[in-house]
Amino acid sequence: MEALKIDYDLNTNVEKFIVTNQAKQLFINGNWVDSKSGKTFDVEDPATGKKIASCAAGDEKDVDLAVKAARNAFETGSWSKMAPNEKGKILWKLSDIIEEHAQELAQLEALDNGKSVVVAGVADVPLAVDLFRYMAGMATKLEGQTIPGSFLVNNTLSPGAQFHSYTLREPIGVVGQIIPWNFPLLMASWKIAPALAAGCTVVLKPAEQTPLSALRLTEIINDSGLLPEGVLNIITGLGEEAGAPIASHPDIDKVAFTGSTEVGKLITKASAGNLKKVTLELGGKSPAIVFPDADIDAAIQGVASGIFFNHGQTCCAGSRLFAHEKVYEKVTEGVAEIAKNIKVGPGMHDKDGSQMGPLVSNEQYEKVVGYMESGKNDGAECLVGGTHDNSKGGHFVHPTVFSKTNADMKFVKEEIFGPVLTTQKITDDDLNNIASEANNTEFGLAASVWSKDISTAHKMASKIKAGTVWINCHNVFDSALPFGGYKQSGNGREMGFECMDNYLETKAVTVNL
Ligand code: NAI
Ligand code: MG
Repeated sequence: MEALKIDYDLNTNVEKFIVTNQAKQLFINGNWVDSKSGKTFDVEDPATGKKIASCAAGDEKDVDLAVKAARNAFETGSWSKMAPNEKGKILWKLSDIIEEHAQELAQLEALDNGKSVVVAGVADVPLAVDLFRYMAGMATKLEGQTIPGSFLVNNTLSPGAQFHSYTLREPIGVVGQIIPWNFPLLMASWKIAPALAAGCTVVLKPAEQTPLSALRLTEIINDSGLLPEGVLNIITGLGEEAGAPIASHPDIDKVAFTGSTEVGKLITKASAGNLKKVTLELGGKSPAIVFPDADIDAAIQGVASGIFFNHGQTCCAGSRLFAHEKVYEKVTEGVAEIAKNIKVGPGMHDKDGSQMGPLVSNEQYEKVVGYMESGKNDGAECLVGGTHDNSKGGHFVHPTVFSKTNADMKFVKEEIFGPVLTTQKITDDDLNNIASEANNTEFGLAASVWSKDISTAHKMASKIKAGTVWINCHNVFDSALPFGGYKQSGNGREMGFECMDNYLETKAVTVNL
């Protein structure tokens, strides 16, 4: 393989990591190894379409080795039975170490995913660090309950007996985790940190489009020497070759997936063999609902960043705008004006003024462009954007706003996962009718409500069928807040205390006193 040349100012660690003749390897049982088949796949810079690295293409044989390592580590108890405060200390140290590598991780993310290096530096990386830190505290808070049973009072089966019952929270075991490409480092952290806090061992598969930051994270963790071998294993590879064997593996106790609803359904089916526990964080078609009494300037800014953040490649993107007819023109024109002024260019050149990078891949580019065409064919009107360019190898789509859209249009129903906003007028003042329009989707991940009236805002929050409702904001995340979907947006929650249910079993213990 020829040496790679990259036309950006790179952090020296990124240079070392990426500009190499050697394919990136799998991480199994504490060792970096090639895939058994010897196959590799290429990783590209989505701003240029040029190859930046190649990675081992794992398959079921590699998954099997990783699962054996994770099983062995789990059963020996090197991690699963470590004292909670020791685990907590290690997770906290890891958060510090990741933070020390913040700049290079942000660069790697921008290079691999196409996102702005500045955004990666203020969002992706610090959120990943914060989740490790939050989960460090979680390790000492996995408490059961003592439960007073009625048999204590009036036990007719064994008169006179007294029972004492309590619950234990135990790690679920070996966890398989499959993640997408939109927030590669953050999704890896959302998965790895709580599983480790719970005492589980992990086999994680990054997305084939963006494997680099998870590999670098693993190098950083491995170099720290803080985790016992076999606790964290990384298998890079394609979905059907390396992801599917995780979903179907008989010795994986639980699979946690983030990605498309379509693959979420495949994972659920594949998991049936050993009835492994499944949690899914899937697609969305989140509404942003603007009432006439909202702070309209704030709503315009919020709606625009709700859809254009991360180029719309965000599961909770506010992709359907519902604005009341009294403010519809003002809001759509305001959002269109912002869209027009967003400078599109390579994420690594953010310093030179580019604010929105390319989409992650040619596949995603074709998909988004296809949805824009389908919207036009269905009679929607493009207010701004609608243009795109892949002539120089990068996958650029300009921020786009459509009007004259309705709930029957394909691009209003399906997840576009690009910087494309559809807009509809609210012509009704009945909150139930507004909510039912907003809820008219098979998804239920998030929503934002824009109103100064606390009564309207809270009533809408309760009427929306989604796992997250933002009031006068959009895309606000916190490690302590549970995040996940109603309906076909998935099941289970990421982050917060609720996330721990994904990785823990509950055992009821009853003692005959
Ligand atoms: P995807 O769902 O195919 O990929 C997500 C992960 O699943 C990747 O690691 C992939 O390798 C793996 N995978 C694929 N097929 C698999 C299988 N049969 N068994 C096990 N693992 C498998 O998503 P894709 O194709 O990259 O994007 C398609 C659409 O999915 C996007 O346009 C978007 O609408 C949606 N999506 C939603 C995300 C979210 O955060 N909810 C993230 C990424 C994509
Ligand atoms: Mg796919």
